[in-house]
Amino acid sequence: MGGKVVLAYSGGLDTSISIKLLSEKYGYEVYTVTVDVGQKEDFDEIANKAYMLGAKEHFFFDAKKEFVENFVHPAIKANALYEDKYPLSSALSRPLIVLKLVEVAKKVGADAIAHGCTGKGNDQIRFDVTIKALLPDVKIIAPIRDWGLTRDVEAELIRKYNIPLKPKRKIYSVDENLWGRSIECGPLEDPAQEPPEEVFQWTIDPKDAPDTPEYVEICFEKGVPVKLNGEKLSPVELISKLNEIAGKHGVGRIDHIEDRTVGFKSREVYETPAALTIIEAHKDLEKLVLNFNELSFKKLVDNEWTNLVYRGLWADPLREELEAFINKASERVSGVVRLKLYKGHVIVVGRSSPYSLYDKLTATYEKHSTFDQSWAKGFIELWSMPTVVSRRILERLK
Ligand code: ARG
Repeated sequence: MGGKVVLAYSGGLDTSISIKLLSEKYGYEVYTVTVDVGQKEDFDEIANKAYMLGAKEHFFFDAKKEFVENFVHPAIKANALYEDKYPLSSALSRPLIVLKLVEVAKKVGADAIAHGCTGKGNDQIRFDVTIKALLPDVKIIAPIRDWGLTRDVEAELIRKYNIPLKPKRKIYSVDENLWGRSIECGPLEDPAQEPPEEVFQWTIDPKDAPDTPEYVEICFEKGVPVKLNGEKLSPVELISKLNEIAGKHGVGRIDHIEDRTVGFKSREVYETPAALTIIEAHKDLEKLVLNFNELSFKKLVDNEWTNLVYRGLWADPLREELEAFINKASERVSGVVRLKLYKGHVIVVGRSSPYSLYDKLTATYEKHSTFDQSWAKGFIELWSMPTVVSRRILERLK
């Protein structure tokens, strides 16, 4: 083989061994790429490790801002919760990582792009589809999936190539970015068992959360959060800060049975304090400013967008076509939502907007209401007509 390969490098064991394998066994010149999407890692140490293992050149991208603005913000506007639960945190980061891999691949004139995904997950699909869509002629290598790099084989390779790494027996597979933390494997594979407390790092056990609730106010402009408690923050700061505040109250834990794109069901655990708080607030604000027709149609579009992104089709033109509708519908989604965080719960307690469709004079039960109740009787005559007529026929057929 040989040639140049660009490897998505996390600094973990699998991708570290992949550097050696790609260079020593398959004769590639290896270019490593690490993308900071908000995972808290020592990126200098990762770079050093890449060089120590034989990388020809290491590339680092701080893509936190791009991640939030171009991936998380569209997800907020789409109220993206896969199967009503999962805010797509890992799913959103994959296409962005691919953008960086492709950028480097073009720069160095790579023949191949490699990543550390297994053959059982969704991430391989997200990587491969996006790479194919952006750089159709590049070869894709996934050493774990394609070359059967199991833990035992890895231990063997570590010995064979004298790799200065310790074969670790990790219990959990964790993936982290600003929008959330995914935890899989180990005892979590038994869906009947409660997740052990040790899997959680961003959220306190709700039973140990403060006894007094904390209120937060999120201000949205055109569907995206811009201020937290009245303070204008950068998109990255706002999410980081809210992760901390909501996590302190045990908000953001998710435990659900997820339908993977590869066909099987899996038990997934997440911690996404900011994501759940922001989406809850965003949905509520939409209900204040969008009418019934808009809300019902938007739900369908949101669901389509979410499934598409989960299933690895970020690069499909349909995503942007759906976003054209979502962005149009988000033009009036501006205002402030007040929420209460309390022992694992996030509760919307107030909302206001210059575009509010709520009219107190119409809604009030006080007698000065502008809603003329005499209109209702005639309306019900017409509204009920199809139901009443068909019921009459059904009764006759009995
Ligand atoms: N099930 C989630 C998804 O498909 C999480 C994936 C987490 N990835 C990982 N390498 N641990 O988006």
